[in-house]
Amino acid sequence: MNLNIAVIPGDGIGPEVIDQTVGVLGKIGDVYHHEFKFNRVLAGGNAIDAVGVPLPEDTVEICKNSDGVLLGAIGGPKWDSLSGEKRPERAILGLRKALGLFGNIRPAILYKELIDACPLKAEIIEGGIDICVVRELTGGIYFGERGRRNTEMGEEAHDIEAYSVGEVKRIAKTAFEIAMKRNKKVTSVDKANVLESSRLWRSVVEDVAKDYPEVELNHMYVDNAAMQLVRNPRQFDVVLTNNIFGDILSDEASMITGSIGMLPSASLGEGNIGMYEPIHGSAPDIAGMDYANPIATILSAAMMLRYSFNLVDEADAIEEAVSKVLKGNYRTRDIMSEGMTLVGTKEMGKLIIERIGNIKS
Ligand code: IPM
Ligand code: MG
Repeated sequence: MNLNIAVIPGDGIGPEVIDQTVGVLGKIGDVYHHEFKFNRVLAGGNAIDAVGVPLPEDTVEICKNSDGVLLGAIGGPKWDSLSGEKRPERAILGLRKALGLFGNIRPAILYKELIDACPLKAEIIEGGIDICVVRELTGGIYFGERGRRNTEMGEEAHDIEAYSVGEVKRIAKTAFEIAMKRNKKVTSVDKANVLESSRLWRSVVEDVAKDYPEVELNHMYVDNAAMQLVRNPRQFDVVLTNNIFGDILSDEASMITGSIGMLPSASLGEGNIGMYEPIHGSAPDIAGMDYANPIATILSAAMMLRYSFNLVDEADAIEEAVSKVLKGNYRTRDIMSEGMTLVGTKEMGKLIIERIGNIKS
């Protein structure tokens, strides 16, 4: 296949982890005879520095016209003092909206090899953790009306959480479809004891559930879900939730799998185009030091092959190569434990690339 991939290295550790991922995709192209064309574009802090805005028009155009978008990480202290619309994060939010990527899929898997990196007690994680967070990505408080006004108590600011039936329906369908391919359980997380938007959310999810009689549905308040994730993470299969709760719970889910440096994500819309990125941020404190773990981005590329290009063997080949490297006891700093071999970003990429073979033959 000939595929055009828009690549956004971004800020901080973004360019380092992207370089290794592009190397991995290059190897996949060689082994499986695909031609990947990488189109590097600006977004985030580097775009602000280069052209004065976080999300240049041509970045949006190039991403829209590509087969998939691969993103490293965006943001950093250098741009922290900028006001809302000018911040680097606007680039991610703007791209999600422009590409219509309403569904964010964040699998949180605890690899056997990384059990030592998991902060939970052994008896809690016995048998492993395999959760898939399905987060709504283009609605809710992130995109609701916002503003400021003066009151007797001083200036006041608001951000409105709003969800329509259509928005909840499509993300709920995504979650149920995924559950059908997994363990057929959906936990919908809301705050229906307080929020009207959550009450609508809950009733729409219940309606959608009628089309999936094989899937077990339960509802959980977000505060309880935060607790249950560390108390008994094995009760979860698919976690369906809104934009803001999903942001928070997916970071929590990542930590119980050992390291945020391991978790990929896919952001999908109605068509095939998707944006793929690690769930970690730009980690400016370790940028340029060859410390960053490239695995989350490399696994995001595997998700791109699987979801946007339907290249299942190729995706499996990447995931298998990552497993082999971990089994070989190689670790970046974030997942290092006693007796393992410490490697840097580049070495980790190289080890994974070396282990990619044609699993068809
Ligand atoms: C994420 C990030 C983003 C979000 C930021 C960078 C805008 O935290 O993808 O989880 O809040 O969605
Ligand atoms: Mg987040």
